[in-house]
Amino acid sequence: MREAQPLNRRGLLVGTAAMTLLSACGGGGGGGSFSSGGSSSSSSSSSSSSSSSSSSSSSSSSLPDPSTAPALKTHFAANFKIGMAADPAITSQSPSNALLLKHASSITAESVMKADPIGVSEGVYNFTQADALVSFCQTNGIALRGHNLVWHQTAPNWFFAGNTADPGYKALVTARLQKYITDVVTHFKGQVYCWDVVNECTGEDASSNYRTSSPWYTALGPDYIEIALRAAYAADPTVALFINDYSTEDPAKRARLMAIVDDLQKKGAPLNGIGHQLHISTSYPTAAAVDQALKDVEARSLINHVTELDISIYNDPASCYTGASGCLAQINTGTSAFTAAMQAQALQYRALYTVFAAHSSVKSVTTWGIADNHTWLDTYPVTRTNYPLLFDTSGNPKSAFWAIVDPSFTP
Ligand code: GLA
Repeated sequence: MREAQPLNRRGLLVGTAAMTLLSACGGGGGGGSFSSGGSSSSSSSSSSSSSSSSSSSSSSSSLPDPSTAPALKTHFAANFKIGMAADPAITSQSPSNALLLKHASSITAESVMKADPIGVSEGVYNFTQADALVSFCQTNGIALRGHNLVWHQTAPNWFFAGNTADPGYKALVTARLQKYITDVVTHFKGQVYCWDVVNECTGEDASSNYRTSSPWYTALGPDYIEIALRAAYAADPTVALFINDYSTEDPAKRARLMAIVDDLQKKGAPLNGIGHQLHISTSYPTAAAVDQALKDVEARSLINHVTELDISIYNDPASCYTGASGCLAQINTGTSAFTAAMQAQALQYRALYTVFAAHSSVKSVTTWGIADNHTWLDTYPVTRTNYPLLFDTSGNPKSAFWAIVDPSFTP
């Protein structure tokens, strides 16, 4: 299930930061190096595999044999958890099942832990799908990120029912929010290692630090963020609490988010970390911009999670996101444009993982999906096949995979 996204989700970024990818590839992360565990393949081992080149969407005919691919969760064990977004149905499908079992040390629910499937009505919950994911994680020793408690796109109307002119209205909505969070966090206590308590609360432009169009903001003003964090902490003081947002690498948007964080910290609200979604593209942002975002969070004594990473092969103009016009045309497999896109994507992935590994504050890095056979970017911002992940449509490691596990691999 996919929710409609904010129209200008990434247009702002693409329009304002057209630095070349190559300038980002030097690392930008203060000399970060890859963890060494598990990596044995190199580009020179190439050739033998016919499976990677014959199977679908991998671009290069010289990728290493897939059977030599190290498990990401082992390779990066000294750095951070390796996460993948999934819903219960996909966990048993091919190639997702094998990839999750081999590579993932963390799973994020793509949709089944959001308030619209779970919060049926006031005090009535449907945990069936979410519990199935919990069960898959527990059976296979995979940690689970809680995602998410409060988000404007998945806020059922019953939270806001009532007469907004009534003097008791704010208290009524506050009580519903507190009860929902208390019940849900209590239900999953001991089963998730963190919660994205509030998703996407930051303002879209300079007019406000806050997303004022959120029904939560409309009902409660900015206080809803603190109310949610305190309720989550009260229900489970041991689980790590996050605010999760996109475009955190954009200095202007991040300044607004950091102002929200500063205010929360001044008030003593419980907050452990910031989630950086990183729905990005091959040419934006630079690794240096991401590095700065991680540093700004560290300066506030918080930890970093990369929560929804995917790297679109389309470097669309802003208009594609603000009005779905000017979106780039489909790039087909087997073309030189596709080969170039896979190379640029691999270099972008490498630059970013170099930065992530250079920060001990980065505790978890999650891709928004598992393999290219299942990605929300096939329908957003327009319907067009995309290939944003580390594994191709058949589940074979792409250039991007080899680029992050093997510094000697040349994409
Ligand atoms: C946002 C949400 C995610 C997911 C993605 C893409 O980033 O945080 O839960 O819905 O959009 O669909």
